[in-house]
Amino acid sequence: MTAPLPARNLETPGGRVLVFANKADASVAAARQIASTIDAARTLRGKACIGLSTGATPTGVYRHLVELHRSDGLSFRDVSTFNLDEYYGVSPAEEHSYRYYMHQHLFAHVDLSPNRSHVLDGTTPEFAVDAHCAEYERWIELDGGLDLQLLGIGRNGHIGFNEPQSLDLAKALALRTHLIYLHPTTIEDGARDFGGDASLVPRQALTMGVATILAARSILILAFGAAKRPATMRALFEAPTMEIPASLIQTVRDRVVWIVDAEAID
Ligand code: PGA
Repeated sequence: MTAPLPARNLETPGGRVLVFANKADASVAAARQIASTIDAARTLRGKACIGLSTGATPTGVYRHLVELHRSDGLSFRDVSTFNLDEYYGVSPAEEHSYRYYMHQHLFAHVDLSPNRSHVLDGTTPEFAVDAHCAEYERWIELDGGLDLQLLGIGRNGHIGFNEPQSLDLAKALALRTHLIYLHPTTIEDGARDFGGDASLVPRQALTMGVATILAARSILILAFGAAKRPATMRALFEAPTMEIPASLIQTVRDRVVWIVDAEAID
């Protein structure tokens, strides 16, 4: 498939925004961006380290990455991956876990080694959570840091499960991987994966922190559909604030590309 071209290319306070006619084209463009980051990192340092995200947004991106693997020679042999977040109190074997999601959408279909595809462990005992989060940070560092972090944006502006809250900017920018309580909007949106029953959505999750995310050498953030437009517009144009966590991306805007569809932006 030839690379789709963006209908618009905007420079914003939140970084460069590539606007595609639809989600399918945007997903292909995002997959190609990930593939070329892998190639560049492999050339530069013999391996690549990619941060991944879950949810409804990136499914088309993973589908196209699998296609690139099957028919275009894209290999994940020297790639390691670190997922953004995971529900807490949920086993990796459960179908609602993000480990399960990744297995279904990507890991089972490409030559990525199981000891290089990392997802935070939702079964970590409460007393070991801090150690587990610190260890995850250490693994990313030992692996040479993230060449790219793939992100979605929540309707409430969250990135990973860094939820909106009134928190001093400096403190927000210093957040590392940690355990959080999900925001009501996130629980409402998560219900979609639990037969529409919000009471079944886990209340807690482990997430990379804002600082972990912003330390990536490049950030690719996706926003698809009209429901994401208000949060996207605020993240791109309003002053950075933890009330809209995605707005904190403005602080590293030179390393950021947004890939959005026409409905997600004015
Ligand atoms: P969604 O979630 O892709 O399921 O809309 C995105 C996000 O919350 O980051």
